[in-house]
Amino acid sequence: MLVTGASSGLGAELARRLAARGANLVLVARRRERLDELATELARVHAIRAEVITADLSAPGASGRLVADLDASGSTVDSLANCAGFGLGDAFVDQDLESISSLISVNVTALTELTRLLLPRLLAAQRGFLLNVASTAAYQPTPGMAVYGASKAYVLSLTEALAAETQGSGLRVLAISPGPTRTEFFDVAGGEGLAVGRFQTPSQVIDRVLEVLERRNGPASTVSGWANRVAARAAGLAPRRLTLAVARRAIG
Ligand SMILES: NC(=O)c1ccc[n+]([C@@H]2O[C@H](COP(=O)([O-])OP(=O)(O)OC[C@H]3O[C@@H](n4cnc5c(N)ncnc54)[C@H](OP(=O)(O)O)[C@@H]3O)[C@@H](O)[C@H]2O)c1
Repeated sequence: MLVTGASSGLGAELARRLAARGANLVLVARRRERLDELATELARVHAIRAEVITADLSAPGASGRLVADLDASGSTVDSLANCAGFGLGDAFVDQDLESISSLISVNVTALTELTRLLLPRLLAAQRGFLLNVASTAAYQPTPGMAVYGASKAYVLSLTEALAAETQGSGLRVLAISPGPTRTEFFDVAGGEGLAVGRFQTPSQVIDRVLEVLERRNGPASTVSGWANRVAARAAGLAPRRLTLAVARRAIG
């Protein structure tokens, strides 16, 4: 199982939980020291194989190089979890172009390319999962985090479409949409002032992921936390103008 964003937050928590179930892992992110530490711990505690591949997923061609590294190591993967991602909080006009491009490269381009490159293997394995981390930000436009919300709407849409395309293949495809979660996300995005809703722990979010993945005929997407689920459902039912106004006030 290959987990991107495994050096922190949701990716690290998912890796821990999968290792506890006996899965061999390939851990991907930029910070090698953290990945090495986690790999060593998981291999020791759970007697699994944990390989580390460092990659800057914002770099052009990163996904292709990552798969080449995977092939060179001889590791096989039956599941892919695209957890790497980050947010940017500020008015769009005040965000620098480099940061915007980097966000799109990680949250959208690398996720799409890696999924496309590995999907034939996941389909051939017939027993794993494709997990993409979207967000409650996917369910309405997010003024103040405009590019981030748009990137997560893309992730949600792509994942639901892939779930339909691969139905009956034996591969479980799921988009998880967490609300605010206690990880390093808000340190990177620009502070907890951007959070809308009550915080969950990474473990609560991964509980939801594992519970839904285990369901026979489970949904293609799910929101973590009942209050977040209600808010996402309401955003889908209310007039777009209203959800936009509410989101604008909430994010400030
Ligand atoms: N926490 C929340 O409130 C929340 C809510 C909704 C959705 N999400 C989504 O959840 C996912 C995981 O975020 P998190 O909350 O766990 O935040 P986090 O603790 O900041 O973890 C983000 C992970 O992404 C990796 N990453 C970021 N940029 C990268 C790059 N250029 N190349 C490779 N890896 C990169 C980081 O690793 P390195 O820095 O080591 O590269 C890290 O492992 C993201 O997609 C995020 O959008 C989070």
